[in-house]
Amino acid sequence: MLTLELGKSKNIPLYQQIYQYIKQEVLTHRLKAGSRLPSKRALAAQLGISTITVENAYGQLMSEGYIYAKLKSGYYVSALENLAPPAPMASAVSKTAQCISSPKGTGIDLSSNSILPQSFPFSIWSRLLRRTMAEKQSLLLTKSPTAGILPLRQAIASHLMSFRGMPVSPAQIIVGAGTEYLYELLIKLIGRDKLYCVEDPGYQKLQHIYRDNGACCISLPIDHKGISVSALGSVACDVLHISPSHHFPTGIITPVSRRYELLAWAASEQRYIIEDDYDTEFRLVGKPIPSLFSIDMSSKVIYMNTFSKSLASTIRISYMVLPQPLLEEFNRRFNYLSSTVSTFEQYTLASFIEQGYFERHINRMRNSYKKLRQLLLRALTSHPEHNRIEILQQASGLYFLLKIHTRLPDAALEDRLRQNGIHLQALQHFYQNRQAAPKHTFVVNYSSITPNDIQKVTDALFKSLK
Ligand SMILES: Cc1ncc(COP(=O)(O)O)c(C=O)c1O
Repeated sequence: MLTLELGKSKNIPLYQQIYQYIKQEVLTHRLKAGSRLPSKRALAAQLGISTITVENAYGQLMSEGYIYAKLKSGYYVSALENLAPPAPMASAVSKTAQCISSPKGTGIDLSSNSILPQSFPFSIWSRLLRRTMAEKQSLLLTKSPTAGILPLRQAIASHLMSFRGMPVSPAQIIVGAGTEYLYELLIKLIGRDKLYCVEDPGYQKLQHIYRDNGACCISLPIDHKGISVSALGSVACDVLHISPSHHFPTGIITPVSRRYELLAWAASEQRYIIEDDYDTEFRLVGKPIPSLFSIDMSSKVIYMNTFSKSLASTIRISYMVLPQPLLEEFNRRFNYLSSTVSTFEQYTLASFIEQGYFERHINRMRNSYKKLRQLLLRALTSHPEHNRIEILQQASGLYFLLKIHTRLPDAALEDRLRQNGIHLQALQHFYQNRQAAPKHTFVVNYSSITPNDIQKVTDALFKSLK
């Protein structure tokens, strides 16, 4: 029996209090490795709180490796030597997020979404910026509407029409400084009292964003078609956050039958789906897949995309498309907020899109990434020891999965690879439920390497397997 007492008046959310307590018990060996924790329902009843709160705490403990789940059996304490390094609790930045955002010193980085300087259209951008400053001086110094300047929203709307076949009114588009900021706005708009569900595996920052903004968030397993509908049916989810056209990091595409099941789920009651279309521009194989937003008849899908991948992750400009009822509420409640993107960048980006440079840039980058990908795959699969590896999810975009036939634990292999000059992340870092993660599988993110790096990558990889 756990003997914790919750301080309901403390400023610390209840799930964090449970998390801290159990973590402490594990670290001090009061809870022994292998011992069974109370079920979520039993602990919730004992503490007089909701099972979702316990679920959040258990989810956090699982993601950090303090406990693990056994199918149809319950939750158990992990052996301490198997623990992942603890994440900083206040903003709980995941290992993944740290890897993505921090410089890694020397070596070739196959773990980040950054791009090379030669990939950014600097000369066109600076020309457009100079022209904007010469011709739009009074507009540049006029306050932007909350949702962004109209020319940028018009340009995004026409891009969505031509690129994604989405007939969207510019009035539905909200521009903001990165998707993280837009998620925060959405939490305010839809409510902190709702249960937000994200994909497992998935973009690890999401759980932290939802939880740090005071909302309950749990992850649900995906199967080969995307989010599992049976898992969805087993929780009282209000808002489902998914990437159906190009799942990150597995590249899985949710087929149309599953999409309609998800839309039917959302159509009833006060439910929403957040469709994260990240990286969709760089799906390099196969036909474009219609967005969930474009087949939604019930105004329940919120579409999200970012210029982080299509231009640069440091540009910090993203947008969301709101369905009509949410848009009306947004305008009613939030038009006092200032736009988080500078007018200088907004007008420059608007010209970049309007004048066709964005489309040309994407086409150029797709071609160059396609070639790079082919070269990298060819180098890996034609290596004399190629039978020690397997390439999975060939159809995904600027990353693919690499399965390595080895007995080495993933962390040891990551270390060896790092010593040999490459930074590669195991797929398990993208899982909340580490026990469910396929072993010896790595996410190869190749957007920041050049063809000249390929030989080094293959040499270092196979050397690390010796
Ligand atoms: C699925 C997904 N969505 C969104 C983002 C980032 O968006 P932004 O840079 O606009 O915050 C990432 C970044 O890795 C991602 O993996």
